[in-house]
Amino acid sequence: MAMRKNGSSPDGSTGDMPPEEFRAAGREAVDWVAEYLAEVEKYPVLAQVRPGQLRGALPDAAPEQGEPMEQILDDFREVVLPGVTHWNHPSFHGYFAVTGSGPGILGELLTAALNVNAMVWRSSPAGTELEEHTLDWLRDLLGLPEAFEGVINDTASHSSLYALAAAREEAYPEAREVGLAGSPRGRIYASREAHSSIEKAALTLGLGREGVRKVEADDQFRMNPEALREALEEDRSRGIRPVAVVATVGTTSTSSADPVAELAEVAEEWGLWLHVDCAYAGASAMVPELRVHFRGWERADSVVFNPHKWLFTPVDCSVLYCRRPEALERAFSLTPEYLRTREQGTARNLMDYGVALGRRFRALKLWFVLRYFGAEGIRSRIREHVRLARLFAEWVEEDPDWELVAPVPFSTVVFRYASPELDGEEQDPANEELLEKVNGTGEAFLSHTRLRGRISLRLSIGNLRTREKHLTRTWELLRRSATEVVGQTASRLG
Ligand SMILES: Cc1ncc(COP(=O)(O)O)c(C=O)c1O
Repeated sequence: MAMRKNGSSPDGSTGDMPPEEFRAAGREAVDWVAEYLAEVEKYPVLAQVRPGQLRGALPDAAPEQGEPMEQILDDFREVVLPGVTHWNHPSFHGYFAVTGSGPGILGELLTAALNVNAMVWRSSPAGTELEEHTLDWLRDLLGLPEAFEGVINDTASHSSLYALAAAREEAYPEAREVGLAGSPRGRIYASREAHSSIEKAALTLGLGREGVRKVEADDQFRMNPEALREALEEDRSRGIRPVAVVATVGTTSTSSADPVAELAEVAEEWGLWLHVDCAYAGASAMVPELRVHFRGWERADSVVFNPHKWLFTPVDCSVLYCRRPEALERAFSLTPEYLRTREQGTARNLMDYGVALGRRFRALKLWFVLRYFGAEGIRSRIREHVRLARLFAEWVEEDPDWELVAPVPFSTVVFRYASPELDGEEQDPANEELLEKVNGTGEAFLSHTRLRGRISLRLSIGNLRTREKHLTRTWELLRRSATEVVGQTASRLG
């Protein structure tokens, strides 16, 4: 059936899009998605646009009269798409690479159709119970003890904020009623390599930036437990109250893993909340030979991990597991009269575990992903990504002009161009320039970090379409760009 030419409802009524029109436009949209996923490589990975380009192509005001869906879809393709950086591209290696997989996309579509708000159990029992059940499955697959209860949030930043709010609740039981004014200063301990979301949580919780102490890391970027002990002692002598220890497994810069078991020892000695941030690497705990990096996480009080990073689930989906959910509930539960229900006490109300009242039905897409790929399918995909990352790391190690900057425990490689033809001062600008060149080709996208004061490049693998041939091409682009940069430097100096 052809789509109507006019966007407003057919009989001038005030209703929604008619079912026949939805079916026709929906088929077109789903066909487009199938083709997009099959041919995503034809797009430049990094959007090749200038700031303001998209806004310049859009009308100044929203339409007064409805527009036909065909026209809206055309504009999506012609105006919006050029401004998209394609995270679903097999050569997207920036930040942490991800996949919005087929089953995940379909789950997201159905979530939008149901449009439930699972704030309390009765506002959508399936929203609550599928979340609980799927997270129990996932917990068992990850090898976490049954005591951990899960809840889904939008991002790891919010999950960590909530976990640290529970820790603050334990450290300052009075804060819920009277706030922190007049209380001793409090501190969260995390490594220098911890994600900035920990500092943001401290800001939000009223602890301030000084409320995070960055503990020394070793030469492999892992938090040093002895340095943690010393920091705690020193702060105690200054009257600072410790709130929590944050361990990271899969740090943002290098994907290093803090020694969680040793840190758990310290946290237990000091009676402190231990939060483990494995936003990226968490999925790999499903793979027995990779679980070694998580040793000791079962002793944590809370763990955050994002299925939207390395578990093939579309953005957004972050899981917070808590061994003491009652502390989380104490920190957040506040029930206005209109949300009181008869099920109170017999069913969980997910609004009690964070700031947001409303919550999307995110469990549906995660449930689709777990069922469609199955645990074995997920493990083999993660193993393949780790294999590819190690292969790329070998290429780097074998080339005397390049160096590996950090170990590769998961699927992220950190490396730099360090040709003897460039002196030390020239190396940072050279790495920045060659990264721009590679990203500018639109064929691959990598990001960067600064380690020990020097610029390094990061290549992360997490897309289900990435094959060895893509990495071969990216390696070729990197080496070619490096040669061009060295040539430019030489001619500038010569
Ligand atoms: C270790 C770690 N924690 C937290 C985050 C923040 O994740 P989100 O974007 O879900 O807030 C990141 C982001 O990459 C991360 O690498």
